[in-house]
Amino acid sequence: MTGDQTVSTSKDAGLKTVFLQDEIDVQNLDAFKDFSQKFEELMMMYRSAIREVRTKLEVLNDEFQVRRKHNPIEYIKYRVKKPLSIYEKLQRRGFPVTLESIIDNLHDVAGVRVVCGYVQDIYQVADLLTSQSDITLLQVKDYIKNPKPNGYRSLHLVIQVPVFFSDECRPMKVEVQIRTIAMDFWASLEHQIKYKNAGETPEEIDVELRSCSDVIADTDMRMERLYNTMKETEIPKG
Ligand code: GTP
Ligand code: MG
Repeated sequence: MTGDQTVSTSKDAGLKTVFLQDEIDVQNLDAFKDFSQKFEELMMMYRSAIREVRTKLEVLNDEFQVRRKHNPIEYIKYRVKKPLSIYEKLQRRGFPVTLESIIDNLHDVAGVRVVCGYVQDIYQVADLLTSQSDITLLQVKDYIKNPKPNGYRSLHLVIQVPVFFSDECRPMKVEVQIRTIAMDFWASLEHQIKYKNAGETPEEIDVELRSCSDVIADTDMRMERLYNTMKETEIPKG
């Protein structure tokens, strides 16, 4: 048994053995099986929560298309956080590695990214989603009104959505990031540039990234003005 890689938990006595170990101690095998099963179940619940949120968003988009001839949502991406990332984030923040701790301390295990055409669509989608009676809004971070110093722009919501299973109804947390196509383009490439370069990035790269983000924000505003102007003068198609 490689002791230093075994994660012991103080809160949950049954969960002595977690995923980051080379060998599984026979004595701990039952605890490991139990943890794996419960972890798998929890991830299933997060996947289900994502499905609920996606459906809500798709319904809204569909309704807009039919009633207002406009799709506020261009596309939706989603993911459940990988076990290793869950483990690393809990460790980094000094939280115990237990199922309870995942539920209490992490709000981005289930992540949905909504990519919209225009900035005004972002706020509309956010309002319509969070005003639904079964959704609880837990947190808002508006990196559009207040971009990060590096130029990152997006609207982040943490919501709670009830999910019905055979024996219970569970409120599940989902992180929803809403951004324009342009903001998504910037964030994806910035992530790649930073990710490939694990160390410090040269100052001029950071300055250039911030400048690109400002250009993109300006273009987003111009495109939105264009759209609104065209809409005002619109003559319905025959
Ligand atoms: P995390 O530990 O990263 O989840 O931070 P947090 O809980 O303080 O949340 P925050 O709202 O700052 O960021 C959450 C998520 O937004 C990240 O996991 C990324 O997906 C995205 N994000 C935040 N900042 C940046 C950034 O500077 N660049 C890119 N590309 N994505 C970012
Ligand atoms: Mg995150």
